[in-house]
Amino acid sequence: MTIHQLHVNGLDHTVDAEDDMPLLWVLRDVLNKTGTKFGCGIGMCGACTVHVDGEATRSCSVSLGQVGQRKVTTIEGLSTGRTHPVQQAWIAEQVPQCGYCQSGMVMAVAALLVKSPNPSDSEIDGSISNICRCGTYPRIRAAIHRAVR
Ligand code: FES
Repeated sequence: MTIHQLHVNGLDHTVDAEDDMPLLWVLRDVLNKTGTKFGCGIGMCGACTVHVDGEATRSCSVSLGQVGQRKVTTIEGLSTGRTHPVQQAWIAEQVPQCGYCQSGMVMAVAALLVKSPNPSDSEIDGSISNICRCGTYPRIRAAIHRAVR
Protein backbone atom coordinates (compact mmCIF):
# COMPACT_ATOMS: atom_id res chain seq x y z
CA MET A 1 0.00 0.00 0.00
CA THR A 2 1.08 3.55 -0.71
CA ILE A 3 -0.16 6.84 0.64
CA HIS A 4 -1.67 9.02 -2.11
CA GLN A 5 -3.05 12.53 -2.03
CA LEU A 6 -6.15 12.64 -4.18
CA HIS A 7 -8.11 15.78 -5.09
CA VAL A 8 -11.81 14.95 -5.48
CA ASN A 9 -14.68 17.42 -5.79
CA GLY A 10 -12.59 20.27 -4.44
CA LEU A 11 -11.31 18.42 -1.39
CA ASP A 12 -7.98 16.75 -0.70
CA HIS A 13 -8.09 13.14 0.48
CA THR A 14 -5.36 10.91 1.82
CA VAL A 15 -5.77 7.42 0.41
CA ASP A 16 -3.78 4.36 1.44
CA ALA A 17 -4.06 2.00 -1.53
CA GLU A 18 -2.08 0.26 -4.25
CA ASP A 19 -0.86 2.42 -7.15
CA ASP A 20 -2.68 0.23 -9.64
CA MET A 21 -6.08 0.34 -7.92
CA PRO A 22 -8.61 1.62 -10.47
CA LEU A 23 -9.88 5.10 -9.69
CA LEU A 24 -13.42 3.70 -9.81
CA TRP A 25 -12.82 1.52 -6.79
CA VAL A 26 -11.03 4.28 -4.90
CA LEU A 27 -14.02 6.53 -5.44
CA ARG A 28 -16.64 3.94 -4.55
CA ASP A 29 -14.98 1.79 -1.89
CA VAL A 30 -12.58 4.19 -0.21
CA LEU A 31 -14.25 7.59 -0.59
CA ASN A 32 -17.87 6.34 -0.70
CA LYS A 33 -18.65 8.26 -3.91
CA THR A 34 -21.10 5.65 -5.13
CA GLY A 35 -22.73 7.83 -7.79
CA THR A 36 -19.98 6.60 -10.12
CA LYS A 37 -21.11 3.20 -11.37
CA PHE A 38 -19.44 -0.04 -12.37
CA GLY A 39 -20.69 -1.46 -15.65
CA CYS A 40 -18.15 -3.40 -17.69
CA GLY A 41 -14.84 -2.69 -15.98
CA ILE A 42 -13.00 -2.58 -19.32
CA GLY A 43 -13.54 0.97 -20.52
CA MET A 44 -16.39 0.15 -22.89
CA CYS A 45 -19.69 1.25 -21.34
CA GLY A 46 -18.99 4.64 -19.75
CA ALA A 47 -21.01 4.04 -16.56
CA CYS A 48 -17.92 4.96 -14.56
CA THR A 49 -17.24 8.30 -16.31
CA VAL A 50 -15.80 11.08 -14.15
CA HIS A 51 -13.76 14.18 -15.00
CA VAL A 52 -9.99 14.21 -14.54
CA ASP A 53 -8.77 17.77 -15.03
CA GLY A 54 -12.04 18.37 -16.88
CA GLU A 55 -11.63 15.49 -19.32
CA ALA A 56 -14.30 12.78 -19.42
CA THR A 57 -12.44 9.73 -18.11
CA ARG A 58 -13.53 6.14 -17.60
CA SER A 59 -12.52 5.62 -14.02
CA CYS A 60 -12.38 1.82 -14.31
CA SER A 61 -9.51 2.21 -16.76
CA VAL A 62 -7.27 4.69 -14.98
CA SER A 63 -5.30 3.84 -11.88
CA LEU A 64 -4.84 5.83 -8.71
CA GLY A 65 -1.16 6.21 -9.60
CA GLN A 66 -2.00 7.57 -13.05
CA VAL A 67 -4.36 10.19 -11.62
CA GLY A 68 -1.78 11.62 -9.24
CA GLN A 69 -2.48 15.23 -8.29
CA ARG A 70 -4.96 15.91 -11.08
CA LYS A 71 -8.40 17.18 -10.15
CA VAL A 72 -11.14 14.55 -10.10
CA THR A 73 -14.82 15.49 -10.30
CA THR A 74 -17.57 12.94 -9.76
CA ILE A 75 -21.31 13.30 -10.24
CA GLU A 76 -21.54 14.30 -6.56
CA GLY A 77 -19.30 17.30 -7.28
CA LEU A 78 -20.66 18.38 -10.66
CA SER A 79 -23.13 20.93 -9.32
CA THR A 80 -21.61 23.84 -7.48
CA GLY A 81 -24.30 25.87 -5.74
CA ARG A 82 -27.13 25.19 -8.18
CA THR A 83 -28.12 22.17 -10.21
CA HIS A 84 -25.84 21.80 -13.23
CA PRO A 85 -27.55 22.79 -16.54
CA VAL A 86 -27.07 19.25 -17.88
CA GLN A 87 -28.82 17.81 -14.84
CA GLN A 88 -31.62 20.39 -15.16
CA ALA A 89 -32.11 19.37 -18.79
CA TRP A 90 -32.04 15.67 -17.81
CA ILE A 91 -34.85 16.32 -15.34
CA ALA A 92 -36.88 18.40 -17.81
CA GLU A 93 -36.61 15.76 -20.56
CA GLN A 94 -37.11 12.89 -18.07
CA VAL A 95 -34.12 11.12 -19.58
CA PRO A 96 -33.45 8.25 -17.15
CA GLN A 97 -35.29 4.97 -17.32
CA CYS A 98 -33.52 2.54 -14.99
CA GLY A 99 -30.98 5.29 -14.36
CA TYR A 100 -27.92 3.13 -13.86
CA CYS A 101 -25.81 4.62 -16.67
CA GLN A 102 -27.02 8.18 -16.24
CA SER A 103 -24.41 9.60 -13.88
CA GLY A 104 -21.69 8.56 -16.33
CA MET A 105 -23.76 9.89 -19.21
CA VAL A 106 -24.25 13.27 -17.51
CA MET A 107 -20.52 13.53 -16.79
CA ALA A 108 -19.64 12.72 -20.40
CA VAL A 109 -22.12 15.31 -21.69
CA ALA A 110 -20.98 17.99 -19.23
CA ALA A 111 -17.40 17.55 -20.47
CA LEU A 112 -18.53 17.63 -24.11
CA LEU A 113 -20.40 20.92 -23.64
CA VAL A 114 -17.30 22.61 -22.24
CA LYS A 115 -15.39 21.72 -25.39
CA SER A 116 -18.27 22.17 -27.79
CA PRO A 117 -20.99 24.45 -26.37
CA ASN A 118 -23.56 23.74 -29.11
CA PRO A 119 -22.87 20.30 -30.58
CA SER A 120 -24.65 18.99 -33.67
CA ASP A 121 -26.38 15.61 -33.58
CA SER A 122 -23.47 14.04 -35.44
CA GLU A 123 -21.02 15.57 -32.97
CA ILE A 124 -23.09 14.20 -30.08
CA ASP A 125 -23.17 10.75 -31.66
CA GLY A 126 -19.44 10.89 -32.36
CA SER A 127 -18.49 12.10 -28.89
CA ILE A 128 -20.79 10.27 -26.51
CA SER A 129 -20.08 6.56 -26.70
CA ASN A 130 -21.60 5.70 -23.32
CA ILE A 131 -24.01 2.79 -23.46
CA CYS A 132 -27.60 2.96 -22.19
CA ARG A 133 -29.28 -0.44 -22.08
CA CYS A 134 -32.71 1.21 -21.80
CA GLY A 135 -32.10 3.00 -25.12
CA THR A 136 -32.72 6.53 -23.85
CA TYR A 137 -30.59 8.00 -26.66
CA PRO A 138 -33.36 10.15 -28.24
CA ARG A 139 -34.08 11.78 -24.86
CA ILE A 140 -30.34 12.21 -24.24
CA ARG A 141 -30.02 14.12 -27.52
CA ALA A 142 -33.07 16.24 -26.69
CA ALA A 143 -31.68 17.01 -23.24
CA ILE A 144 -28.31 18.04 -24.68
CA HIS A 145 -30.03 20.48 -27.03
CA ARG A 146 -32.13 21.79 -24.13
CA ALA A 147 -29.05 22.23 -21.93
CA VAL A 148 -27.45 24.59 -24.45
CA ARG A 149 -30.56 26.76 -24.94
FE1 FES B 1 -15.85 1.71 -16.84
FE2 FES B 1 -17.71 0.34 -18.19
S1 FES B 1 -17.32 0.36 -16.04
S2 FES B 1 -16.36 1.85 -18.96
